[in-house]
Amino acid sequence: AASRTFFVGGNYKMNGTLESTKKLLQLLKDAQLDSNTEVVVAPPAIHLLLAQEQLAGSPVKVSAQNAYHKDAGAFTGEISVTQLKDASIPWVILGHSERRTLFGESDELVAEKTKAALAQGISVIACVGETLEQREANESINVVVRQLDAIKKQVDDWSKIVVAYEPVWAIGTGKVATTEQAQEVHAAIRKWAVEKLGQSAGEGLRVIYGGSVAAKNCKELAAQPDISGFLVGGASLKPEFVDICNARL
Ligand code: G3P
Repeated sequence: AASRTFFVGGNYKMNGTLESTKKLLQLLKDAQLDSNTEVVVAPPAIHLLLAQEQLAGSPVKVSAQNAYHKDAGAFTGEISVTQLKDASIPWVILGHSERRTLFGESDELVAEKTKAALAQGISVIACVGETLEQREANESINVVVRQLDAIKKQVDDWSKIVVAYEPVWAIGTGKVATTEQAQEVHAAIRKWAVEKLGQSAGEGLRVIYGGSVAAKNCKELAAQPDISGFLVGGASLKPEFVDICNARL
């Protein structure tokens, strides 16, 4: 785990105003962050440019929460990966479970979007994870592998992908996966990666955990061998996000 740069993402989801986002980013800009951890924040689309401007000169980078894979055209309400590139947004979250479940995004669409983002030079936080029903049916690893296989079908080079394992039942519920539950799936993803991407790419792939991560549980999770960081929702809107970024200190 030591050779992989620790990665912490803050997913603001559909929260905040211009004013509150500005305050949150300033807090981050002023904070003492672990220089060995890569920090990326994903504000709502309407705040992306503000964030980009506000974080100029800071090591903290900006991510979109979603994007569409077509370059341009009649896709009302969408933002293209090409437009993200034009605005110099370096990261995008794709396949978040809220996109998959609330907005019907299929494994194939997520894969297509991933391919399109990478083609524009944009790094991708690719989200995977099982529902409670799937976990109870002992399907967690199968589901995650199916989601990863779909992306692998369209993408060979995974060097600019960070995989976020977010068990759906742990998102926004305060029900964090136990370190054992998380490590078990992370290890399965590592095994998949070494098999499908090759030894060195597979070992180098960062797999981060998301789902009710908070200051109080982040250190124990961060100590697991296959957990290379976090994707944080609710707690990324609070000052404790700084403590999560510094989980390894
Ligand atoms: O993308 C992060 C996320 O889905 C986790 O949300 O609020 O449980 O930290 P939360």
